[in-house]
Amino acid sequence: MALRRSILTTVAAVLSLAASPARADDLDPAGKWTAYARGAADLPPMGWNSWNAFGVAIDEDKILGSADVILSSGLASKGYRYIDLDEGWWARRGADGRMVIRTDRFPSAIQSDGSTSFRPLTDRLHALGLKAGIYSEIGRNSCGQLYSEDTASLPSGTVAEREVGLHGHVDEDIRLYFSEWGFDLIKVDGCGIRGLPESNPRVISGEFRAFPPLIDSDSLGRTSIPAVRALFTEVSAALERHNPDDDFVFSICIWGSADVRSWAKNVGNMSRTSEDIFPIWSRMLFNLDSTSRRALYAHPGSWNDPDMLYIGTGDFDADHLTEARSHFSMWAMLNAPLMIGYDLRKATPELLGILGNQKVIALNQDPAGNQAVLAYDSDDAQIYVKTLADGSKAVALLNRTSAPLKVTLTSDHLKYLAENDIDLTDLWTGEAIRFQKERDFALGPRQALVFKAKGKRALANGLYVSEMPGSVNPAVDGVIVPEAEPMTHRGILPWQGTRGNGEHPRYGGWGGAQADMTPYGDQLAVAGHRFSSGIGVLANSRLEVRNPGFTRFSALVGVDDSARDRSQPVTFLVYGDGKLLAQSEPKRFGDPPSPLEANVAGAKLVEVVVRTPQPLRFPDPVTWGDAALTH
Ligand code: GLA
Repeated sequence: MALRRSILTTVAAVLSLAASPARADDLDPAGKWTAYARGAADLPPMGWNSWNAFGVAIDEDKILGSADVILSSGLASKGYRYIDLDEGWWARRGADGRMVIRTDRFPSAIQSDGSTSFRPLTDRLHALGLKAGIYSEIGRNSCGQLYSEDTASLPSGTVAEREVGLHGHVDEDIRLYFSEWGFDLIKVDGCGIRGLPESNPRVISGEFRAFPPLIDSDSLGRTSIPAVRALFTEVSAALERHNPDDDFVFSICIWGSADVRSWAKNVGNMSRTSEDIFPIWSRMLFNLDSTSRRALYAHPGSWNDPDMLYIGTGDFDADHLTEARSHFSMWAMLNAPLMIGYDLRKATPELLGILGNQKVIALNQDPAGNQAVLAYDSDDAQIYVKTLADGSKAVALLNRTSAPLKVTLTSDHLKYLAENDIDLTDLWTGEAIRFQKERDFALGPRQALVFKAKGKRALANGLYVSEMPGSVNPAVDGVIVPEAEPMTHRGILPWQGTRGNGEHPRYGGWGGAQADMTPYGDQLAVAGHRFSSGIGVLANSRLEVRNPGFTRFSALVGVDDSARDRSQPVTFLVYGDGKLLAQSEPKRFGDPPSPLEANVAGAKLVEVVVRTPQPLRFPDPVTWGDAALTH
């Protein structure tokens, strides 16, 4: 009866639409940074994970073999520290509920009392100066159980014994993995809450218990976003309980579904933005695209994760070093967690050299935590710019095509003055280049060039807010009904091929706040006045901006020319540490941009809020043009 009621509740939750208009009080200043700050992820985590190299067929030798190379090659001293077991370690859930490790593949787990423990393995990794990561699942059954054909590597036993996921066991499993076994990171997958409807043949045959799906990867409307979020929130609460010193990393793996890109920043330390990467150039681009327009949703403590590195395999193997360098460069620019996915025992010196390029790693590990922002975007070429903690910049020019391509970099892309020297250093070759105004680059097929850049800033005495996305939290981004993002839908799902009628937009996030563009990817413009810098966001939004010590906030504000609803006037407000500092007149579509300034001296947190008196049917894009913090 209880089970039946819980299934009915779940079904009701799935059918309820995910609409969540910002309540008026969500727009009140919080007075504090509200994105996730627990855990140990001030910088994007770096390390190694078994999945891309071995799938579910993992064992102790394979894990320790790669860990040895991480140490002997010097990669550990360059920051690669997490050695993560992905799926394949579990034998079953014991009758007492305690998880049992496969001792045929992890012999060191055998305890004298007949139980199993990963403590010997984590002790060994810790003694080497490394950290240890484990894998679990938010539902009852795992991705491997649902999709892998390597049954010899999967849990065995009764239906209950094969329920190895966290569902119903969150506290006991997290306690076991962290307090008892000593892990430092957990990746939590979600196949068990998307793939086991009553109609699944393996449910009908009695192999698995049904789990009424909370996620429909093809349909946000049929996904119970609040229920999925609640399950992952329960895990972060358990991690906090069992790691009072905060030495944990919570890696959320639901592939961009359930609109996770909008809420993972409040729940965990890194979150997958798409389905799995494959060692295919176009697939790498697809994963890149799922993250590249989400700069404002990543910051120290919570990073966008376009999936693990595939360097060493397929299109990124030792015969494709250009592609391998491009893949690595782009992951570094996006502040992606750098998780090697290769059997390092086989790695050539060239591959180790790519993974170990300290200058490129330094971009990824820059303490400001600013994910690169797209300064030029097209299907063929992209230019990404990342503002570094020391005030200099990194710029990547990416040729997405398989033919040579000319890419012109301008001073405007870098927000530098045209008439002053711009100095570039190529982070792969060391070559130094000086130019003014603009310079052409001849890129080879699939090549990315990455430079450190120095020049005279167009904004001399501060930073545009769009240059510091790592310090911006879109606490309320104004999205009322989550929508799939049409910019990320081109990837063939490798396990599905071209069956069906094509790949449709499926990743939530459309309409989210943007650096230097409108929420829907247009150029920022108010009454015909175009802005190349600024924040684009929907009305009825609240952004938190960490202030590193500037004294003045300024912007030119107005309803963006892309607004559709236009029924309500909008008011722009600026708060410092929770106190109202400045407010605009109500602005309507077509009104020219108005200056809005506030003295933010001493305020640690600036909040910028946009309100309408009545809700909008289609939230209007509004523009914080040239929004900047200055002295
Ligand atoms: C999912 C994840 C992968 C990997 C596998 C394990 O597909 O996205 O990264 O963890 O499960 O089965």
